[in-house]
Formats: sequence, structure tokens, C-alpha cells
Amino acid sequence: MSNSTITEFATELKQDAQAVLRQLKAAGIEKASVDDAISDVDKQHYLTYLRSTHGHAEGGERSKITLTKRSTSEIKQADATGKARTINVVTRKKRTFVKRDEVPAAAAPAAEVAETAAEQAQQQDLERREAEARRNAELLRRQEEDLARESSERQERERKEREADQRAAAYAQQEAEKKAREAQQKQQTVQEQKAEAEQRAKEQDEARRKAEAEAQQRSAEEAKRAADLEDRRRKAEAEAAAIRSMMSAPRKVLVAKKPEEPAADAKKGTLTKPADSGDKKKVATGTAAPAGGRKAKEIKSSDLSSSWTADDGKKKEIKTRGDTGGAGRGGSNWRAGPKGRRGNDRNQRGQSRHQEAAPQEVRVLDVHVPETITVAELAHKMAIKASEVIKALMKMGQMVTINQPLDQDTAMIVVEEMGHKAIQAQLDDPEAFTEDEAIQYQAEQLPRAPVVTVMGHVDHGKTSLLDYIRRTKVASGEAGGITQHIGAYHVKTPRGIVSFLDTPGHEAFTAMRARGAQATDIVILVVAADDGVMPQTKEAIKHAKAAKVPIVVAITKADKPDANPDRVKQELVGEEVVPEEYGGESPFIAVSSKTGQGIDELLENVLLQAEVLELKAPVDAMAKGLVIEAQLDKGRGPVATVLVQSGTLKVGDVVLAGQTYGRVRAMTDENGQRTDAAGPSIPVEIQGLTEVPQAGDDFMVMNDERRAREIATYRAGRFRNTKLAKQQAAKLENMFADMTAGEVKTLPILIKADVQGSQEALSQSLLKLSTEEVRVQVVYSGVGGISESDVNLAIASGGIIIGFNVRADAGARKLAEANDVDIRYYGIIYDAVDELKTAMSGLLAPEQREEVTGTADIRTVFVASKIGTVAGSYVTSGFVTRSSHFRLLRDNVVIYTGEVDSLRRIKEDVKEVREGFECGIKLKNYTDIREGDQLEFFDIKEIARTL
Ligand code: GTP
Ligand code: MG
Repeated sequence: MSNSTITEFATELKQDAQAVLRQLKAAGIEKASVDDAISDVDKQHYLTYLRSTHGHAEGGERSKITLTKRSTSEIKQADATGKARTINVVTRKKRTFVKRDEVPAAAAPAAEVAETAAEQAQQQDLERREAEARRNAELLRRQEEDLARESSERQERERKEREADQRAAAYAQQEAEKKAREAQQKQQTVQEQKAEAEQRAKEQDEARRKAEAEAQQRSAEEAKRAADLEDRRRKAEAEAAAIRSMMSAPRKVLVAKKPEEPAADAKKGTLTKPADSGDKKKVATGTAAPAGGRKAKEIKSSDLSSSWTADDGKKKEIKTRGDTGGAGRGGSNWRAGPKGRRGNDRNQRGQSRHQEAAPQEVRVLDVHVPETITVAELAHKMAIKASEVIKALMKMGQMVTINQPLDQDTAMIVVEEMGHKAIQAQLDDPEAFTEDEAIQYQAEQLPRAPVVTVMGHVDHGKTSLLDYIRRTKVASGEAGGITQHIGAYHVKTPRGIVSFLDTPGHEAFTAMRARGAQATDIVILVVAADDGVMPQTKEAIKHAKAAKVPIVVAITKADKPDANPDRVKQELVGEEVVPEEYGGESPFIAVSSKTGQGIDELLENVLLQAEVLELKAPVDAMAKGLVIEAQLDKGRGPVATVLVQSGTLKVGDVVLAGQTYGRVRAMTDENGQRTDAAGPSIPVEIQGLTEVPQAGDDFMVMNDERRAREIATYRAGRFRNTKLAKQQAAKLENMFADMTAGEVKTLPILIKADVQGSQEALSQSLLKLSTEEVRVQVVYSGVGGISESDVNLAIASGGIIIGFNVRADAGARKLAEANDVDIRYYGIIYDAVDELKTAMSGLLAPEQREEVTGTADIRTVFVASKIGTVAGSYVTSGFVTRSSHFRLLRDNVVIYTGEVDSLRRIKEDVKEVREGFECGIKLKNYTDIREGDQLEFFDIKEIARTL
């Protein structure tokens, strides 16, 4: 910009030139007049000065902006002199904008008030807006959240659906696989069976061939021997004839010498005999004689048989051998056989040697024939050689080998053929084999402690009573405070030892109570004084009476304020348990396990009863008794609580208990103390059995472990067979029942329990839940933890597994999870029963119940061309809907029951017509309607049922 004068500059600024000059002077720019030139630098200075005077220091922050608006106007007016004048009017508007925080505190008070008010208003406005903003933000946030949730839910749903689909697919696949597996298995079994059958056939074939070969060989041998014999006989005869021809008189002397020979050789005997002609009977006696000469006990049937079979074994000869053997069966007969008689026989024989027609006493053996027996065993029992039996069987058309088992019928025929008496014996009847019984009876009978069983209704205080007597606290440690298995304890009282059996009182344990009653000498019937005779009290009385054991009544809880012993007495009289004071046989004693009242008296009475019974048992004999409880212990294996009833059980004994056997490895009493021996009436826990026996099984000690094993195995096999047969029957029965009853649902269950007794009680209780419509089927029940094989069985049978005080192992758990097998654990039997009941209610088909909704009268019947026969009706009560069922009544007789097809009101299809309206009703599949008929409408409701 070029230099200009101040006047020009002022014009440019629309300012007065003089004022500009003043301001320039104030800014330090010395200018003399308005006509002085002003440079650009000066102008800049001037501007800076102006800014600084207006609060806008150069570079300073602008805190205030002032806008000035000036307008100039002219007014023309005449003054006092009348002269017209022009007045310039300059209007200045000034507005200052100040930053809020820099409002000077020292502003005028009025302005301040106004400003504060404005500020407040502004503040409020701001706050309101802020709140609104916040609300909006919140709203937005929520909407966002909702959206997010919705989307996640959708995703979840989709995922689930996908999973369900996958599961369904997997399930279908699994099913298919299972079916395939089953089919395969079936096929395999069929193949296996076929193979087995083939194998068996082959074996039989081979055996037969072998037998044939053997028989042929044997017959050849026999033929040879016979020829040989014949030859010898002829030779001997010739010799005899020669001798006879040479010497005729001294024959008697020769004979007299013979019997004096000490142990005559059988062969010699046979050979000498031909001299006495070939009388077979004589031959027999001749051979037996030397045997009779031995010590009676040493005689073994085998010895005898070998000597006998050196001759030829014919029926008659065998009979005569029975003669020497004496009466009775087995080895005992030999032992029991009177020595003297044999001697007599010998004398007699000696005397009658030459009385050829002397009658022989035919001794018949009692031969016990078990269900199966091998040829060798049978021969042994009859004290003959096995070949004799084989020959006899050959005559009957059967080719057998020496080790071939014969069935009972065949064996009995053989025995009868041999001229003995065949007695049907059970293989598992140890007495058919052993002579233990005889030894038991021989042992001295000594007094023994009484076995006392405590019985009564649930929670009447049986365990508490025993706890008081034994100074223990069993009851408080029981699950749910209830006894679930038999406890056996023996207690030393001042008057001797008493063995107690504690039984459970709940109805589920009938079998256990029955067992308790069988094992006992005396029953303590526990009846709570505040409760009286209850169902299980009655049952206990029945068991005690069935076992014919004396009852001592303990009226427990006598300390309770509401105790009423007299009522109990009267009620028991009603059950034919009569107190002594009324002339009966049972002592009644009021006792309290809390205060100890009457307990001594109770024991006194029990021991008195025991004395009357004069209980005795052999002590020095092999033990026999009863399995009270059994379980599978993780560390110790099968453990059985047994009550020794006679004899003494020792560590190391071989025990046969039901279907199991074993050698007693260790023995502990009820307190867990080790013992070496347990005499009669003492309960002990034994270890060493190979398997868990059934509670209630008999046990006995046997001499021979092999025999014990055989019997146990046989029993187990037979048990399996009968069980299989039962299952088969059940299946057939199921089929039949299913066919007749329409559909019967079954609930297959597997039970695994800690002890035998619980398992038994549980399965019985659960089986009792069966109704006509839902049947409980115990597929399997056993003792011990739940294993994979149990789960497999559950898979196969589609059942659930119940674990009572047991758990599934890791493998089983995994398998169960993978296959959706339901495993339920319980500690109290009644819980299990209750829950199963609920489960079964779910299986029940829902009940269908009719609910009448309305009635209508048919007033006209018309036939519409498209629809058909329509009942013009008037709804007299309730309502009718399109989905109603109806009953057509004519003179109050039901003519037809069916469904409504359609419903119309004035040519319109309607869903429902209420009372008081007319309508047209078309009935489904029914047209025979008449005026005056009535319709009753009803709905069918499904109601879930409970057992
Ligand atoms: P189960 O074996 O389940 O059949 O029961 P239980 O007959 O063995 O009964 P238990 O001894 O467990 O006692 C049941 C309840 O009765 C417990 O709560 C005991 O405390 C109580 N009880 C037992 N005897 C007495 C008694 O003499 N007096 C009182 N006041 N309470 C008793
Ligand atoms: Mg109890």
C-alpha cells in the first residue's frame, strides 16, 4: 500500500481525521497535522495500539469481542429562529461478547443477578439436556444390549438346533449301529452255536468211535481171555481128572488146609477153585475171603474190585461182593460193616466150601446216584471195575468211555442192573458224598449260647435296645436311622454269652426277618409302648411262630410320657402272644433304652428261656451254619458274616457256602478283632470265599476242597439254568401278557448294592411296584460297584441302573454318559422305591377322561346338497364346538358315539355355538338322525396318572 495522508486514512476508516491524529499521537506516532503522510508501518503501529487499548493485546487470547455498529442519520429541523438546520445523528450500537468464565466478578450487582438468573436457567437447561442426553444414551445402550442379546439368543438357538440335529443324527446312527451290532452278535452267536454244535457232534462222534474201538479191543481181549480161561479150565479139568483117577480118597484133607492159608492170593484162589468145579458163586466167596481177613478199616473198594475183576465180572458175582461189603452206602459201609460177620462168613465159607448148593446171602448196596456221574465214579460206588459198568452199558446199547458222565436215569438203571439199590441223590447234597454227618453226631454235644433275634416294627427301638445292652451306638450311625441289614453281635452277660441278631423293621426286609427267625433260638419281640402292635410286629410274630421259637416281649420306650404298656399287652393278646401273667408263655417286660429300665430283667428272662431249651451243639466238629450277610469288600474281596450253628469254624477250613466255596483266610468278630476259631452260636466275618454267597445260604466245612468246588460250581450252574429258564418263561409270559393287555410297559432295572441283603430287599421292594400296566423287571441284581459290564447290560436291556451305597467306576461312568444310561444312587431303600414310583408314573399312559360340555336337541333333519345330512339343532345347555365328540341319544339310549364334523349357523361355518342358539350340525360318518334325538357333547381330556 502506498503512503497516504492521515485524512485519507481517516476517511478510509470512516473516522474523524482529528481523532485519528490524536490516537496516532497517543500511539506514539508523531504527526503534526492531518495532512501528514502516514506510512504502512505507522498504520500497523496504530492498529496494534488500537487493539491493545481495546483489550486485545497482540498475541493475547481473545476473551472478549466487541462489535460496534454505527449508523449516521440526518434530521432536518427549524431552530428557534426559524432557520432550518440539519442535524447529524450518529447511533452507535455496541455489543460485547465475553467468555463466560471471564466475566469480571466486579460487574454491577444488577447485571450479576440477571446474569446469575440467566446462568441458572442456562445451567438448568444444560442439566436437563444433559439428563436427556444421558437418558438417550442409556436407551441406546439398552437397545444395543437387547439387540446383542437377541442376536446371541438367536445364535444359541441355532446352535442348539444344530446340536439337536446332530444328536438326532448321531442317535439314529447309534441306533443303527446298535441294531447292526445286535444283528451281528446274533449272527455270531448263531454261528458260534452252530460251530459248537458241530464241535460237540464231532466230539461225540470221536468219542463214540473211540468207545467203539475200545469196546472192540476190549471184547477182543475178553474173547482172548475167555479162550485162555477156557483153555486153562480144560487143562485144569484134565489135570483134575488125572488126579481124581489117581487118588480117590484124601480129598477132604486137601480142602481143610486151604482156609488156614494166611493171605491167600486171589489168583491162586481162582486157580485152585476149578478143582471144585466151576461154580461161580464159590469163586466169588473164595476171593472175598482173603479180603475179609484184612483189617476191616483198611478195606478199600478198589482193592476189592481189583481182586474181583481178576475173575470175570458177572452180575451174580457182584452181588456176592456186595455181600462182603456189608450194608449201607459208600466207604462208611465198609467201615461200619461188622467185622465179626466177615469172620463168620469166612468160617461158613470154609465149612461150606464143598456144600455146593449152600444158599448165598445177596447183599444189596445202597448206591446214591447224583444228577450226573462218570462211569468211573459209578463203578467206584458199586466197588467194581469201570469196565464192568461199560460192559453193562454196552449191553444196554450205549457205548461209553470211562470218564464219560452219565445222566442220573442211565446210572440208576445200571445200578439196578447190577442188582443194587439206586437212590436218587442231589449232586449238591454234600451228604451224598461225605461222611461228615456221622462225625458231627459222634462229637460230644455241649451246651451252647442262645441265639436271640430282635424283631419288631420299624423304629420301635430294636437297635437302640441292643445298643444299650452292648453299650454301643449302632443306631445313631445308621443311614436315615434305619437298620437295613442283619447285625450279629455276641454279648457276655454275667449269666453267659448271648448272641443277638438285629433285624430291620421295615416291610421291605421280610426275607431278612424270616432268615433271622430261622437262625434263632429265641425271639425278642420289640413293641414300642407309644405305638403298639403294627404290621411288621404282626409279621414278626408270624415268623417266630413259624420257626416255633419262644417269644420274649420287650415293650420299649417305656420312659416316654405317652407310653401305654397295657394297651400293647391287650393288642398282643389279640395276636395270640399271651403274657405269662394271663396264663400265657411269653414274658412281657417294659424296657427303656434311654434309662436302662427293665433291661436286666429282659436279659434274665431271655437266659431263663434259653436254659429251658437246653441248647446243645457239638463243638469239636466241622462247622455248619448260616450266612447272615455277605458283601464284596474292595480290599478284602468277598466277605460273609456267618453264624456258626454247630462245630467250630477255624481259619484254614474249607467252606462250602451256597454256590460258593473257599478256604477261610481270616476271621474277625463283630468288633473287627481277629479270631482263629468260632464255636457254636458265634457270629463271625470270614474272608476267603471265591464269590459273594447269598445271605441266608447254609455253609458247611468240608474236608475236600475239590469236592467243595465241584458242588459250588454245580449249584451255580443249576441256579443259572433255573434262572435262565425263569427268564425265558418271563419273556413268554410277557409276550402273552402284552398281547392280551394291549400294551404293558416294562421298566427294566439293574441293581447293584453294597451287601447281599440290601440287594435282595431292594429288588423285592421294586418288583412289588409292578402294576398291571407298568412292570418292573429286575434284569440283574448283584453286589459290588457298578462296572462297565453292568452298564452294557443296561444298554442292551434299555434299563436304568440303581446303585445302592455303591458307585460306578470311571469306565462305567464314561460308558453310561456316552450311552445316556441313567444311573441313580441311593443310600436309603425307601428313597429308591419312592423315586422309582414317580418314574413309573411317567410311563403310565395318561388317563383319558370325558368332560361333558353341552347338550342339544335335534329339531329338524335336512339334507343339504353338498354337505349331506345335517341336524338342525338347538343347544339346550353348555356349548358345542367343531372338535366336540358327541353321543347320540334316542329316548335316553346311546345310539352312537362319534365326532362332530362341521358346525354352521345361518350358512356360516362357526367354531362354537353356545346355549340358546340354533345351529346345523353335521356328524362325522353318521347320518341316521331323527327329529327329537338328543346330542350330548363332550371333550376328551388326558390326565397324567400316578401310581
Ligand atoms: P429299624 O431298625 O429301622 O426298624 O428301627 P429300630 O427298631 O432299630 O429303632 P431304633 O433303635 O433305630 O430307634 C428308633 C428311634 O426310637 C430312635 O430315634 C431312638 O432314639 C428312639 N428310641 C429307641 N428306644 C427308645 C426308648 O427306650 N426311649 C425313647 N424315649 N426313645 C427310644
Ligand atoms: Mg434298627
